[in-house]
Amino acid sequence: MSPGGDVAVIGGGLIGLAIAFELAERGATVRLYDRDEPARAASWAGAGMLAPYTERVADEELLQLCEDSLAEYPPFVERVREASGVDPQLHLNGIVHAAFDEVALERLREHGDALRSRGVTCDLLDRAHVLAVEPWLAHHVAGGLLVAGEGHVDNRRLGRALVAACAARGVSFARVASLRVECDTRRALGVRTNVGFTPAVAVVNACGAWSSLLDGVPPEMLPAVEPIKGQMLALQVPDAFVRRATWVPDAYVVPRDDGRLLVGATSERAQFDMRVTAEGLHRLLHAVLQAAPSLAAFTVTETWTGLRPGTADGRPFLGPTPLEGLYVATGHYRNGILLAPATARLLADAVCGNAAPELAAFSLPRRKRAS
Ligand code: GLY
Repeated sequence: MSPGGDVAVIGGGLIGLAIAFELAERGATVRLYDRDEPARAASWAGAGMLAPYTERVADEELLQLCEDSLAEYPPFVERVREASGVDPQLHLNGIVHAAFDEVALERLREHGDALRSRGVTCDLLDRAHVLAVEPWLAHHVAGGLLVAGEGHVDNRRLGRALVAACAARGVSFARVASLRVECDTRRALGVRTNVGFTPAVAVVNACGAWSSLLDGVPPEMLPAVEPIKGQMLALQVPDAFVRRATWVPDAYVVPRDDGRLLVGATSERAQFDMRVTAEGLHRLLHAVLQAAPSLAAFTVTETWTGLRPGTADGRPFLGPTPLEGLYVATGHYRNGILLAPATARLLADAVCGNAAPELAAFSLPRRKRAS
């Protein structure tokens, strides 16, 4: 099935790009709008971790969606690589969660038991084993949990790859100074920018942390999304110094193929404040150097911030809205990069008139869930 007309995707992050790519691969005519360059904002700022189990997603519907998306990652990356010629450097070599005392290790044991009961492969490692796996950790580490199948993708490379893949599949990019969605009382009609009006049969709000501010959309059709700031830094380390993405108390590290080691991330309700602060960096460096004094001598090469799109119940907003022709794909909070493949598939299905039943759990509006 096809959408039966042109599609407007608003927001050029990984979510918007992945939806545009998916629709274009199905033969749709897609125009992607952004005020900035595509593949920036949270999509550029994230660490690219693919970690539903280590993130401890507890909401069953959301966990199922994360698991589906993790399983879709290798074929998704392969399609994007083939269309773009850019390798997003996907590594699914597991994630280590390190514990530094017996209480934390016992919690990891329980978490591992729960994961195994849903079929996830994971190993509880004692001190010697965790140091054999990741020798840069402090020698007082108590142990760790290695969850197989999780990993990371280089989100900046994935962004570049998706931009090229979209262009190769005929997606047109509009970088605009101003933009509003035109609607009548019944449906979304298209997008008006500083250069004119373009009709669309489907308009997708994929504006990430800015999704609740999209001009022209009736207020009740705007998703309640709040920016949650994350500060990060990068160290330059020798090749293969850190082998896997690793969680330590109050921080995580993610290795890149180019020798950068990303250290993240704070989680702050700070509206649209994009400053890197002394306190933010102190918190990250303190946490990571407690867990790994061996990192102390390496050069800090970069610091930055990103804004995660948070929602009140932790679930993204996905799929059609009650206003015909208007769709949402936002609110992915800590799991936007992980959820890009499944989001793209579900949104493309919905725009093509085949909305999956599982979208009901992520619809706008939705009732408050009992806590
Ligand atoms: N997914 C990790 C973070 O949002 O910090």
